Amino acid sequence: MSPVLLVLGVFLLPGPARGSDGSALTAITCFTRGLDLRKEREDVLCPANCPLWQFHVYGNGVYASLSSICGAAIHSGVVTSTGGPVRVQSLPGEENYPAVYAKGIQSQALTRWASSFSLSRVKSVALAAAGQPVSTARPSTGKRPKKPLEKKTGNKDCKADIAFLIDGSFNIGQRRFNLQKNLVGKISVMLGIGAEGPHVGVIQASEHPKIEFYLKNFTTAKDVLFAIKEIGFRGGNSNTGKALKFTAQRFFSMDNGARKGIPKIIIVFLDGWPSDDLEEAGIVAREFGINVFIVSVAKPTPEELGMVQDIGFVDKAVCRNNGFFSYQIPTWFGTTKYVKPLAQKLCTHEQMLCSKTCYNSINIAFLIDGSSSVGDSNFALMLEFISNVAKAFEISDIGSRIAAVQFTYDQRSEFIFSDYTTKEKVLTAIRNIRYMSGGTATGEAISFTNKNVFEPVKNGPNKNFLVILTDGQSYDDVRGPAAAAHKAGITVFSIGIAWAPLDDLKAMASEPRDTHTFFTREFTGLEQIVTDVTRGICRDFLDSNQ
Ligand SMILES: *[C@@H]1O[C@H](CO)[C@@H](O)[C@H](O)[C@H]1NC(C)=O
Repeated sequence: MSPVLLVLGVFLLPGPARGSDGSALTAITCFTRGLDLRKEREDVLCPANCPLWQFHVYGNGVYASLSSICGAAIHSGVVTSTGGPVRVQSLPGEENYPAVYAKGIQSQALTRWASSFSLSRVKSVALAAAGQPVSTARPSTGKRPKKPLEKKTGNKDCKADIAFLIDGSFNIGQRRFNLQKNLVGKISVMLGIGAEGPHVGVIQASEHPKIEFYLKNFTTAKDVLFAIKEIGFRGGNSNTGKALKFTAQRFFSMDNGARKGIPKIIIVFLDGWPSDDLEEAGIVAREFGINVFIVSVAKPTPEELGMVQDIGFVDKAVCRNNGFFSYQIPTWFGTTKYVKPLAQKLCTHEQMLCSKTCYNSINIAFLIDGSSSVGDSNFALMLEFISNVAKAFEISDIGSRIAAVQFTYDQRSEFIFSDYTTKEKVLTAIRNIRYMSGGTATGEAISFTNKNVFEPVKNGPNKNFLVILTDGQSYDDVRGPAAAAHKAGITVFSIGIAWAPLDDLKAMASEPRDTHTFFTREFTGLEQIVTDVTRGICRDFLDSNQ
């Protein structure tokens, strides 16, 4: 009997990066949120160089699950801006998440959220993923890798068309006018002007407004700086209201270099107070979808207050008086420390509520099947789906709105578009929807929604979307009511689960039907459709704005 020799070959394959307990690291993006993860505890890999000012972070130490994971990781000091591995532990929801500034990130306050997470370091990383080097494992050449200079392209993470409306009044005077030019120049450089980044122009407010240069004139920081130096002081009343209105109406045309689909911003510099009224000009700017920022420098002293027409001029000029769009600087001397925070504000695009985007300019009504076949736990999954879609949008009195109707043979308006104007309130209202249980009459439910939910907002500024969720065959005709909805300008997405017949789903959906129809065999599959639906809505929004 000859012995059998076994030779075992062991191959080390390049696998995914691994955490200390051997579990794989999930590569995520700068914007992956806690709620995007599936596991209770997960080790993830944050990329390097995430744009700090674009993070949405809520809380401190314990973060609401809609926070960006990598943003929270930097905020909590677990990683730096060079990224790296992070352990994410999911936690129950909290009553209050505080707003705290740390490590260059301003977290925001939030009350009551369904779930949270906390972060900790991942002790050791055994293997680096092929093609995804873990940033801590950078080869030590002794030199820092040089970042390519982005002189030509500019800061791509800050796409914005910005008008600086500067004060050229006798009030500010020649000397402080020069200090103002310095400040504007420094902000321009900090922004990272370039072909694919922010573009800027300057208008001088004085007796009559004067456009000094347009967005298209210069696309490098150097040229802009030179042009700003050349601007001559005009004097007279500031007439900032007149200049603001003029800028909103004249400055941002495509001919003058405004780019399509890019936030429009007017940043108004004011010495003391305006000599005319800003309110109407603010309204005009809003109608043009322009974000107005007011930077007021050297506010009126108590003795001067008598000369100020309207003490509330700042709040009246901005599109939302939540503090984001206004800025106070005590004096024109030593303004350097305000350059960076101002530039960051101008690059925070999620907050540009006054620019119209798919996130802030739509109404979505959800039509929810409450029939007996759904059952309690699946009904809860439908509500979760609705919450997750709603979360993607900026809900406010001037932004997007959400409504919900539940149907069986009957219909019940759970809430209509005008009921709630904050995301929190909408999410609470969704949580509070009680399951009806009964039959399925989808056609009648569509007609009901057309009449009671969409009719009242027919002439409003927002684009209308209807998302229908159903798990079965309707007892009545869906084609007629769906066609009426399409005709009324409502874009319909139909989402079928389990027994919903594809024919009906397609008949209800808007054209092209394939991209407006979704199906999942199980209710748990709804989760995977969230992104497709939100993207679909944004795609339709863009198409309708061509
Ligand atoms: C900006 O461009 C316009 C049109 O091309 C031109 O008339 C104007 O002189 C330019 N302004 C400056 C300051 O270069």
